[in-house]
Amino acid sequence: MGRAKPRQVLKGRVALITGASSGIGWAMALGFADAGADLVLVARRAHRLVQLTHAIEAKGRRALLVVADVAIERAMKRVLQQADLVFPGIDILVNNAGICLPEQPTHKTPLPDWERVLAVNLRGPFLLSRLLVPRMVAAGYGRIINLTSSYKAEPLHGVYSVSKAALFALTRVMAQELRGTGILVNALDPGWICSEMAPDGPNPPERVVPLGVRLASLPARGPSGREFVVPFKGAIHG
Ligand SMILES: NC(=O)c1ccc[n+]([C@@H]2O[C@H](COP(=O)([O-])OP(=O)(O)OC[C@H]3O[C@@H](n4cnc5c(N)ncnc54)[C@H](OP(=O)(O)O)[C@@H]3O)[C@@H](O)[C@H]2O)c1
Repeated sequence: MGRAKPRQVLKGRVALITGASSGIGWAMALGFADAGADLVLVARRAHRLVQLTHAIEAKGRRALLVVADVAIERAMKRVLQQADLVFPGIDILVNNAGICLPEQPTHKTPLPDWERVLAVNLRGPFLLSRLLVPRMVAAGYGRIINLTSSYKAEPLHGVYSVSKAALFALTRVMAQELRGTGILVNALDPGWICSEMAPDGPNPPERVVPLGVRLASLPARGPSGREFVVPFKGAIHG
């Protein structure tokens, strides 16, 4: 017997996923397409996004790829302009693009590296949220998922930890500010996943997909401002 077709809980929805060219973002894009969503795919590597677009179209869904750097405001404005030509709106934002540095004592982190990590991991989600929230408020619907991490005070990963702690703070603040608007803002901590960022990770990126789909399809009265952790075999999660 073949595997059961995933329920179409995202049918009719459009999801914008940043960092879709590899790892968790790539897996999430395919999983969202399986759940019925159309996709706007953002990252810097065009050839990877082209491959992913073909894979999504083979599933019968639509995908628009936009090569862009999430840290640059005008690039994010361009993403939305291009999406406007193809889709009626964006219902779901997954702020997944992220970078980290090699291990080093925080006081030795070069300033440009410090600023780059914060620009990608924190300014990027802020920029896209700032551009999309007014549209989501007008539509009375939005689901925002920010990829955080258990590394929020991890030695030798200072600026990465700071960026993820701040992203969780952004999640909580925006969730409170947007209460009653139809927009739910949550954080997703994927655990330790094998990807370009973490090649030794013991779990495949696909492990993140069910929780991602669940957060993207939360009902109107669903939770907001919380961090959800991908459950692992044998682990107990509240
Ligand atoms: N893997 C883990 O164990 C783990 C644990 C906790 C949290 N996370 C978080 O999960 C998210 C995904 O990570 P991953 O493990 O899937 O890593 P990954 O495979 O390295 O993916 C990172 C993605 O971000 C994109 N990206 C990087 N800088 C960008 C920029 N300036 N503009 C646009 N896109 C950019 C990369 O694509 P391009 O290079 O093509 O731009 C890539 O697609 C990250 O936020 C990470 O912090 C991962």
